[in-house]
Amino acid sequence: MISVRVPAKVNLQLSIGPLRPDGFHELVTVFHAVDLSDVVHVRTAAPGSGITVEVTGRDVADVPLDDSNLAVRAVALLAKTCDVSSDVHITIEKLIPVAGGMAGGSADAAGALVAADALLGTRLKRSELDALAAQLGSDVPFALHGGTMIGTGRGEQLTPVLASGSFHWVFALADGGLSTPAVYAEFDRLHAGERIPQPGADERLLFALRSGDIRALGSALSNDLQPAAIAMRPELGRLIESALELGAISGIVSGSGPTCAFLVWDSESALDLAVALTSTGLCRDVRRASGPVPGARIITS
Ligand code: C5P
Repeated sequence: MISVRVPAKVNLQLSIGPLRPDGFHELVTVFHAVDLSDVVHVRTAAPGSGITVEVTGRDVADVPLDDSNLAVRAVALLAKTCDVSSDVHITIEKLIPVAGGMAGGSADAAGALVAADALLGTRLKRSELDALAAQLGSDVPFALHGGTMIGTGRGEQLTPVLASGSFHWVFALADGGLSTPAVYAEFDRLHAGERIPQPGADERLLFALRSGDIRALGSALSNDLQPAAIAMRPELGRLIESALELGAISGIVSGSGPTCAFLVWDSESALDLAVALTSTGLCRDVRRASGPVPGARIITS
């Protein structure tokens, strides 16, 4: 059996550009991997059994167990590309919120790619894994790499960002997920008739990351999908306001939501905010995490 740990992400900047003819939006984002991780285990199964998957953890009822599961798709794509048997059983230990805007499904796809590559002996080059990852989803290449990176194109083209220090976060989880396509569709509706310019990387954010300046990072966080997510879930706006009153340096909707990410000074203030947020009743659960952390890594074989 091979086991791979793979992190969730938060977008420190998510700037959405024009809708492309292929249905994706051109974007510029700054991805940041945090130590809130899923673990993907793969093992060979009986000949002819195909690819099977089981998922353990809280709130996993919404994770599909058929061919649409991103980890299953990752193993199938790898096996087809390399012309090897795909009799593989996948077990996903889920900690990353499902449909939460933290790229949990993409993480599982990246984890399954790395794990199956080792299990099946396909030994793909990093660039080949990247190409398969990009076919699986816009956020999958980042889950392979981790760290802090600028994503361009539809998010799959990555450039490393110089970042010093470690940042502490509190993530507030909501009841039920938000569909990423639905949030992008709401973004399109909110901006109907507008000419959306080509976005660029935010120099203030890049400087804050380079210098490790937490306060500057807090004031540079941005997410163009936030108004769309709040339009669909107005309670997220109230949650962010409360967290700021309770001492968060800054707060944003994570990706397409509904998870919200709150930047705090250190692990102690993370614990304080987590406790205080829990008692507001505005979120279902809270998680503390720090970043940046590396992407998909084999932990046992
Ligand atoms: O690439 P991924 O499968 O994660 O994308 C899910 C959906 O999110 C896409 O089908 C699309 O509706 C939306 N999306 C987008 N522009 C992007 C990334 C995702 O419109 N750059």
